Amino acid sequence: SLPVLPCAGLCARFLLTQDPLLPRPGTPSSPGPLPKASPGARSLGLTRGPPEAGPPPCPAVMAGAALPIRRHRRALVEAVRERPFLIVTGETGSGKSTQLPKYLFEAGLAKHGAIGVTQPRRVATISVAQRVAEEMGCLLGSIVGYQVRFDDCTTEDTAIKYMTDGCLLRQILADPLLSKYGIIILDEAHERSLSTDILFGLLKKLFLQKKPPNRKADMKVVVMSATLEVDKLSEFFGDCSVLHIPGRSYPVKEIFCNLLSPRDIGSSAYAVKVTLDIHLNEPEGDILVFLTGQIEIERACDLLFKKAESIDYRYEVHDRSVEGLLILPLYGSMSTDQQKRIFLPAPAGIRKCVVSTNIAATSLTIEGVRYVVDSGFVKQLNHNPRVGLDILEVVPISKSEARQRAGRAGRTSSGKSYRLYSKEFWEQCMPDHTVPEIKRTSLTSVILTLKCLSVHDVIRFPYLDRPEERHILEALKELYQCDAIDRRGHVTRLGEFLVQFPLPPNLTCAVIKAASLDCEDLLLPIAAMLSVENVFIRPGDPQKQKEAELQHQELSSQVGGCNDFATLLNIFEQCKSPSAWCQKYWIHWRALKSAFSVEKQLREIISKLKQLPDFPKETFEGSRTELLRRCLCAGYFINVARRSAARTFCTMDGHGSIVYIHPSSTLYNQETLLEWIIFHDVTVTSKIYVRTVCPVRYEWVKDLLPRLHQIDAYELSSVAREEVTEEEITKWKYKEDLKRQNGKHVTSPNCNKLERRNDDQSILDARARYLERKQQRAQGLSGPLKEMG
Ligand SMILES: Nc1ncnc2c1ncn2[C@@H]1O[C@H](COP(=O)(O)OP(=O)(O)OP(=O)(O)O)[C@@H](O)[C@H]1O
Ligand SMILES: [Mg+2]
Repeated sequence: SLPVLPCAGLCARFLLTQDPLLPRPGTPSSPGPLPKASPGARSLGLTRGPPEAGPPPCPAVMAGAALPIRRHRRALVEAVRERPFLIVTGETGSGKSTQLPKYLFEAGLAKHGAIGVTQPRRVATISVAQRVAEEMGCLLGSIVGYQVRFDDCTTEDTAIKYMTDGCLLRQILADPLLSKYGIIILDEAHERSLSTDILFGLLKKLFLQKKPPNRKADMKVVVMSATLEVDKLSEFFGDCSVLHIPGRSYPVKEIFCNLLSPRDIGSSAYAVKVTLDIHLNEPEGDILVFLTGQIEIERACDLLFKKAESIDYRYEVHDRSVEGLLILPLYGSMSTDQQKRIFLPAPAGIRKCVVSTNIAATSLTIEGVRYVVDSGFVKQLNHNPRVGLDILEVVPISKSEARQRAGRAGRTSSGKSYRLYSKEFWEQCMPDHTVPEIKRTSLTSVILTLKCLSVHDVIRFPYLDRPEERHILEALKELYQCDAIDRRGHVTRLGEFLVQFPLPPNLTCAVIKAASLDCEDLLLPIAAMLSVENVFIRPGDPQKQKEAELQHQELSSQVGGCNDFATLLNIFEQCKSPSAWCQKYWIHWRALKSAFSVEKQLREIISKLKQLPDFPKETFEGSRTELLRRCLCAGYFINVARRSAARTFCTMDGHGSIVYIHPSSTLYNQETLLEWIIFHDVTVTSKIYVRTVCPVRYEWVKDLLPRLHQIDAYELSSVAREEVTEEEITKWKYKEDLKRQNGKHVTSPNCNKLERRNDDQSILDARARYLERKQQRAQGLSGPLKEMG
């Protein structure tokens, strides 16, 4: 059971004291104030032990030896040894991610199972693993390895395994007791990613169970971060101990540039200005700029490049040793190889400038970075209950996120963080902590994972922050609509197949449908292409942009010019090497290469499933294009929309949201020729745009659409609690039978309303009403104008 430490109710803290006689590591600057313990905290007065045996003198190892965490090595190891749960906090850069797993390994704590360390992001997972392998003088993939989605660099002997939290969650599916691991470290917990939050609950549950017979030693769990809501987490883990590591490797000066006020919502132009100011006026040292997304980043890089070209280094640059600027973008959908480029040192005299999304805000050390430019914004996936979709939105970052960003500047020397916003913006617009992902995104995949782990009561699961019940019910409804769970809330066979794929459920449904029709060759490449970076190059230069657009149009015309999914398949099938082909068509070769590798891995999963005797088998007579679109319908019928007035479409999921086709789609400007469409995802600027679109026929979705309205989310609340009574099932079956007999649906008034919305006459009426309103508006507007004239 959960241990309750002596001072129950209050979290016991170790205050690791700073030895005043020891010089501060690495920098002449003064140490930050010693962190204060909370009122109930107990200082165990731990002081530095004797210096421990030094590793061989390699620069990476030497750096590790000078970090603030080093002097607390012994206390840390003992604390982990003695306690099942431990929280470790410490300034950014103090050495938590790279050093603690190493200490535990060297102290023999990996004897009975590996040390698994989770990171919320792929790029940090790989780079931290690389650093630790370097410090330990071993090959990456041997004692120290990593595993991220579609890339496993570990062996049976790997003792320190860095992985994304999503990967660990998937491993729990195969091995619910995590019997391969002796210690699990959930790192960068402040990010509160969906997977980390679920892992908190699962690991807590794991401790409530009996020790499995095949486990020699008890599992240990360590939660780490620099900017964490410590008390809340400690309470969650039975008032577990909190260990704070004082000191930072190097100080970072935080400067408010006052360029953004609370009313501003964008900041790329200011970011470029401040970056150039730093380049011209500050001493040597690399720059890390935080912007919101791929498009903003590419645009800012182009602008920076243009401006940097006209710099006269003889007169304009203050530091004479700086002779050039190397500009590198960094965002999540880039291939791993491309991401790795940012870590390479710039040539002598050249200042490196990395322009990144939030993926570089946490855990990452980019050697040489001394300046951070913080735009104050982040692109965040938020579930919009009104629209019923997960939407990417630009929102202000939290204060803890800003501290993480600033922390990137003080890793290998002292630094400065330029906050584009004002103190007023900081106080009024930025929350203290980021809203946990579990409270703002779709829970469909996670709920399916929990159900597969036999956690049926998904409402009373131990969440650190409980998601809203209606979000859980929405997820259950979606799973029910996809046929992944049954009316009793149990996972169906299809659900068991779905959970095997590291893809969103709708895409997986389409893949499985294709495999059942023996045409997975059509869908696997599409699934792979949708899982990697955008393959279409969109150059910043307007002339080149036009040229690229024409070539992209050509690629879609080759397959009929009316299906974005088919265009992706066409590219995948046509291009086999980094030939002139990619250049001609403005296609990212490296993204395609990743898609080839992803496709191979998905193919392996599907081949295994197809060998199962109960894997569905179906037949279909029809053209290849129809076959493809039918398979897509099987997965995306939740994302179906019908044309409403003018160029707008209305979603059919019960929310009836008005959406537009995104300009990047081949169907943009062809809206009036369309009736029914399905789409892959949604983005919001001034309007709601759907991306990756395919036209479908009503007959293909007709039988699937009733599923969308068949069940009210609240009808599933008992499913969420695993209390489905026989009476409920009988009632439900009776309703179903009645429906079948009457040939129409006996549903709630709400559902009838939704169904009415879908019939031809009501759509025509709605269109007429819209046109009438439009005309009235136009008249209303021209009235005053005429008067003014
Ligand atoms: N790839 C690297 N190149 C150079 N130095 C590195 C590298 N990785 C880590 N370091 C050094 O090790 C220090 C500790 O890094 P580590 O990632 O362990 O810190 P952390 O405490 O986990 O910080 P954060 O809270 O920001 O994740 C860095 O401040 C830096 O000095
Ligand atoms: Mg870290």
